Amino acid sequence: MARDPITLTQLVAALRGQVEVLEQHGDVSCPVHAITDDSRAVVAGSLFVAVKGERVDGHGFVEQAIKAGAVAVVAQASVGSGLLPFVLVANSRKALGLLGSRFHGDPSARLKMIGVTGTNGKTTTTYLCKALLEGIGRRVGLIGTVGYQIGQETLPAPHTTPGALDLQALLAKMVETGLTAAVMEVSSHALALDRTSGCEYDVAVFTNLTQDHLDFHHTMDEYFEAKMQLFVGLAGGKKAGKLALVNMDDPRGATIRAACPVPVWGYAIQSQADLKAERVRLSLTGTTFSAATPGGSFTVESRLVGEHNVYNLLGAIGVALHDGATPDQICEATAHIANVPGRFELVSSGQDFTVVVDYAHTEDALLRLLTAAQTLKTGRIITVFGCGGDRDRGIAGKGHEDYQIIGTKKFHFDDREAAREAIQQLRNCA
Ligand SMILES: Nc1ncnc2c1ncn2[C@@H]1O[C@H](COP(=O)(O)OP(=O)(O)O)[C@@H](O)[C@H]1O
Ligand SMILES: [Mg+2]
Repeated sequence: MARDPITLTQLVAALRGQVEVLEQHGDVSCPVHAITDDSRAVVAGSLFVAVKGERVDGHGFVEQAIKAGAVAVVAQASVGSGLLPFVLVANSRKALGLLGSRFHGDPSARLKMIGVTGTNGKTTTTYLCKALLEGIGRRVGLIGTVGYQIGQETLPAPHTTPGALDLQALLAKMVETGLTAAVMEVSSHALALDRTSGCEYDVAVFTNLTQDHLDFHHTMDEYFEAKMQLFVGLAGGKKAGKLALVNMDDPRGATIRAACPVPVWGYAIQSQADLKAERVRLSLTGTTFSAATPGGSFTVESRLVGEHNVYNLLGAIGVALHDGATPDQICEATAHIANVPGRFELVSSGQDFTVVVDYAHTEDALLRLLTAAQTLKTGRIITVFGCGGDRDRGIAGKGHEDYQIIGTKKFHFDDREAAREAIQQLRNCA
């Protein structure tokens, strides 16, 4: 059954208390059939939101949007012909997600929303959260670097965190598909660019903060401030029982804990924490530790390799406990998780040495990866790493390719195919 189209007045009501509405002109009770911030995507009946982006300023495209059939404009500067209903707001970029959320029926209010931020471990932690929540019968959508997963469907991910309108549309699709939770990676870019405006989270997870993305954020403090937004943003809203999970072994953990407006569960291996891993045993085939948690103490066995995954597991266990999982359910689900694609993934092609493909693309990740390998190796480690992109120049090895021989064979920054081919070539040479 087709519902009545939403009106501009109803959309603008979503901004209340979040983005100041400075002026309104024309018949703002007009129906809105679509919403976009891209003038090329305007169809008849669209609301065009003029946003100053990183590269282009949407305020310069209002005329084009109107020609393409826009019926109303929201902007943060006076623009346009004065013929259309027009709403002037203090911050149109922040307004975009809120308008999008309302347009799509506020999907984040209908999902258990879990946001994971930090320099490293986001993808892994979101995969683990999804698996653990599915272990207690939830149907979970996933948004992150590897793809956007809605039930059986996986859409390619142009960004780790999609743009504000795409994000709201994705969440709406999750609701429509009958999912009950969404786990998403929330990048610092997304936070700094207000892409998650209009999302109300139930749980936010902080994994760690090390150097990355300084091309964009300029300083570590600015980068940290962006990440903090996920936690500060937990204040207010309509949801009850919110929680933050914070890695207390990270030097920034205490700062987040102190500033967080909702209850915090810290997790750690070294520091005092609500969820603490003890007696950690690492091997090349997996990891075992005893978890002391608000839900009791239990032994976790996982096929994930490396100490960094103990942190990822602790964060995800916290999320599952908060959602009502029992220790037994957590242990059962954890034991079944194979590796996350491309994260310490073993490549077996009949060779008599170990080949691992990993995604360590920051200095800290590479260090942790090699430390894990160093602890677990029985022979030499050969690291093959290169890098793509023109991002942060403080990242080890970025900008050139190299081979590093440290002591088990390692292929970093390579795909599984290449590893298999190399093994085949080795065999041909033998
Ligand atoms: N908790 C962690 N702390 C530090 N490094 C990690 C952690 N988890 C994973 N890594 C390293 O970072 C790489 C990327 O992990 P991933 O889960 O994809 O993180 P992200 O999504 O934040 O980039 C992994 O391949 C591993 O080398
Ligand atoms: Mg990621």
